[in-house]
Amino acid sequence: MIEGKGYGKCILFNEHFVVYNIPSIVSAIGDYTLATVEATESGGVRLIDDRPATPGYKEGKLEHQKDSLRRILEAMGIDSDENLKITLGGTLYCASGVGASAASCTAIARALNRYFDMGMDDDQINEIAYEGEKGYHGTPSGVDNAASTYGGLIWFVRGEENTFEPISLKEPVEIVMGNTGKVANTKAAVAGVRERKEKYPEKYEEIFEKARKLAHDAREALEAQDTKKVGELMNRNHSLLQDIEVSDEDLDMLVETARSAGAVGAKMTGGGLGGYMVALTPGKKLQEAVAKAMEDKGFRVLRTRIGV
Ligand code: MEV
Repeated sequence: MIEGKGYGKCILFNEHFVVYNIPSIVSAIGDYTLATVEATESGGVRLIDDRPATPGYKEGKLEHQKDSLRRILEAMGIDSDENLKITLGGTLYCASGVGASAASCTAIARALNRYFDMGMDDDQINEIAYEGEKGYHGTPSGVDNAASTYGGLIWFVRGEENTFEPISLKEPVEIVMGNTGKVANTKAAVAGVRERKEKYPEKYEEIFEKARKLAHDAREALEAQDTKKVGELMNRNHSLLQDIEVSDEDLDMLVETARSAGAVGAKMTGGGLGGYMVALTPGKKLQEAVAKAMEDKGFRVLRTRIGV
């Protein structure tokens, strides 16, 4: 069986701002989506989605997924009449905010690359995954597929040529990602920011400048392994995301729950308006305490690390 893998991701700084060329910091997480490809007798290209997921997630994204697969096949020059079955699985629990769409695009691109022996390198896989992401996001910044393809902790700046710079940590740091269980529409969240930015240019310019400065401070703090400072900056980043109206009640509540349980910082992550939040919880003991505080409220969490 021919397989391909794509990692889930957690944006630590500047989702949404990244769409406007403001630097962002993203980490791949250990959970991944696996795509397997096998030949069939007839029926053209078929996609079977066996990924674990938040109820309603797969149904809500079905049309996006079809569009995404069509784009991937086209970008790779594969005829949709080819008789093959692509099956998605893996450990990534799919929900909004964890890079599930990018992970599946990368996994499919890698598996097809192997199946057809195309010899693509990571940069080419990343480009194909980016094409696939357009089916979900419209105009993605490329940050999610970068994390999904290259892995690790990345400084990402969108531009005519995107910038990807690995950030090394002295030691990996524990995080908890809390899932609101609400399926979010990233395309709509991004469009909402654009609309408000056009309506209130001065107010948004000010917020965006704060986000730009914060990204540089965050990089410095991460490289110095100053987790207290990183946490403080995550809290400030959450406030900026609230200011541009992409957080919601459940995300704010989970952020507060994590902070009260001792997290050194917490913020929403990804497109917002539902989906996931992330808490910085250095050390297994703190990670467990924060995870439990969210689980006690009935929310599903993911325990993982950044900088692995
Ligand atoms: C979604 O994971 C991240 C956003 O910044 C959109 C994008 O970068 O394409 C909201």
